[in-house]
Amino acid sequence: MLLSEIEILIIYYLLLFIYGFTMCGIIGIATTLTALGANLGTVLYCCLKNLEYRGYDSVGFAVITPDGRLVVRKCRGKIDDVREKLGFDRYCGVVGIGHTRWATHGPPTDVNAHPHTDCNMGIAVVHNGIIENYLELREELIERGHRFISETDTEVIPHLVEEFKRRGLPTYDAFKKAVSILRGTFAIAMIDVDEPDKIFFARYTSPLVIGFGKGTMFVSSDIPAFLEYTNRVLVLRDLEVGYVTSSSVVVEGISQSEDLDPVPPPSRVVEFRPRIRVVEWSLEAAKKGGYPHFMLKEIHEQPYAIFSTISGLGPEIDGVVELIRRADHVFIIGAGTSYHASLTGSYLLHELAGVFSQAIIASEAQWYLSKVSDRDVVIAVSQSGETIDTLVAVRVAKRCGAKVVAVSNVIDSAIPRESDIQVYTRAGPEIGVAATKTFTTQLVVFTYLALRLGKVLGTLPEDNYRDLLSKLRKVPEVVEYVIARCEPIARKLSREVASKRSAYFLGRWLGVPISMEGALKLKEIAYIHAEAYPAGESKHGPIALVEPGFPVFFTVLGGYDEEIIGGNIEEMRARGAWTIAICPRGSRVRRLPEVVIELPRLSPYVATIPYIVPYQLIAYYTATQRGFDPDKPRNLAKTVTVM
Ligand code: M6R
Repeated sequence: MLLSEIEILIIYYLLLFIYGFTMCGIIGIATTLTALGANLGTVLYCCLKNLEYRGYDSVGFAVITPDGRLVVRKCRGKIDDVREKLGFDRYCGVVGIGHTRWATHGPPTDVNAHPHTDCNMGIAVVHNGIIENYLELREELIERGHRFISETDTEVIPHLVEEFKRRGLPTYDAFKKAVSILRGTFAIAMIDVDEPDKIFFARYTSPLVIGFGKGTMFVSSDIPAFLEYTNRVLVLRDLEVGYVTSSSVVVEGISQSEDLDPVPPPSRVVEFRPRIRVVEWSLEAAKKGGYPHFMLKEIHEQPYAIFSTISGLGPEIDGVVELIRRADHVFIIGAGTSYHASLTGSYLLHELAGVFSQAIIASEAQWYLSKVSDRDVVIAVSQSGETIDTLVAVRVAKRCGAKVVAVSNVIDSAIPRESDIQVYTRAGPEIGVAATKTFTTQLVVFTYLALRLGKVLGTLPEDNYRDLLSKLRKVPEVVEYVIARCEPIARKLSREVASKRSAYFLGRWLGVPISMEGALKLKEIAYIHAEAYPAGESKHGPIALVEPGFPVFFTVLGGYDEEIIGGNIEEMRARGAWTIAICPRGSRVRRLPEVVIELPRLSPYVATIPYIVPYQLIAYYTATQRGFDPDKPRNLAKTVTVM
């Protein structure tokens, strides 16, 4: 583990408090047959469809049928691909729960899909979050005769409730007792054939809201799920539990307990009515969490995405270190933004570990990789894990016997599936076509990999290693600061940038791939021609295009680049260019450009991550200034599956 357990917990809870937990969506509906119950399955489908942006690895639902049976339908895949197979529309009833999953632990299989049930198929549970003490609980429950069928942490919940019921508690008390001994994060909805008109719920850290409809109550991870049925909502607080029927809600606060003794935890009834709010958002706005676009939401999610990725990296990185140590050649391949992460990775491996590697654009890689051998390593970077150019290159490399490492944001997607080692970023679903949080989390992976490699190979003295590691741990905080500081600046700058036809993005050394990413953002969503190249190249051709007012952005990370880029800024100013620099606070170059955006000074190896953020914001605000939708740029798709 990269962080100590205590550090992880502190930052984790802090960030979860700020951002909420964006993976998986849950829904519960308590209704009557005359309200929505006659079409319960169809309504569950609609609610889950509205939650699809939270995850789409698998989908499932459970209903109690009018004759009192529990029916559970679930499988791997996107909701529209499995709608027919699951037969949503065939089911009616007065209570039902559903789940859409973004897998972070355990592959997205049919068995791991939610809901999960007890031994007797009487209780069904959907859950968002992570139960940290599930292994102990599972062992204890197995000893007591419970049978588990999935690899999930969630499955302990129905078995715990079943266990407490066996020992004499009624369902609600058994549920409260079970919740009180769970550790970790959770938003839970549960149904039980013994209480066929109720949905039981509980929340700790993962978000959970109740919707008050006409003759129908909803329980969900997020408001968009039920917004077309009601806009009256109650946001639950930590350690609140309760149940809904079609016309009533009970909310209680409980405390946590330690043991499996069937004594329900002390609880107090919560007067929730004053907390009910009317939400005026449209469905689309609600899915975006109040942001005007997914891209802006995703830019703001970066501190949490980076934190989750840092804390989620584990032994797989040491597996990659071992492969690289023994390799003759290392290639890093990716397309678009993932190529920029690859190039940054290649610089970092060289700087921190003295390892030479070659970054190659995925669509050009297959010819190169057709000559690799079993002594070579290929690192394939793809947030979606499905980009065909990258996948084809991976297949070529595998055929030649090379070892392949996948760096992806989507568990079990094609590229990780076909690779020898999988390293996952934990950015959560990225909906905006422009990659933002998946890029910064890819950079986290490469920074950490280079640090580990440097340590193992002895190129990085212990003190430097520790120092850089502690700087990497501070990145979520720094990114948070950079977003807050740069948003007004980006908004203002964008008014001028919006009127330009072309721009250069220049850097040196590690600043080159960050400049390339800055240029890509501006061109793909604001449709302004942007070119990035190493600043030293200007005089070999590109400076011929520069005339008064021509925008030139400089990326200065604060290492070797800072020492030598001053002259490149001067030469552009001398031709009347409009120069803008992103540089560390107090930098020696800060007086040279017309506009300077000073950011916290970090090690340049770590600065790559926060220093891209101003470019993301400038591109975003320039696109909106020009009246374009940054989430859906013309001619582009989120996942490119044609060559
Ligand atoms: O899913 P991948 O990371 O393999 O996608 C690669 C590129 O298509 C992607 O990075 C693309 O360049 C983005 N739209 C950039 O914002």
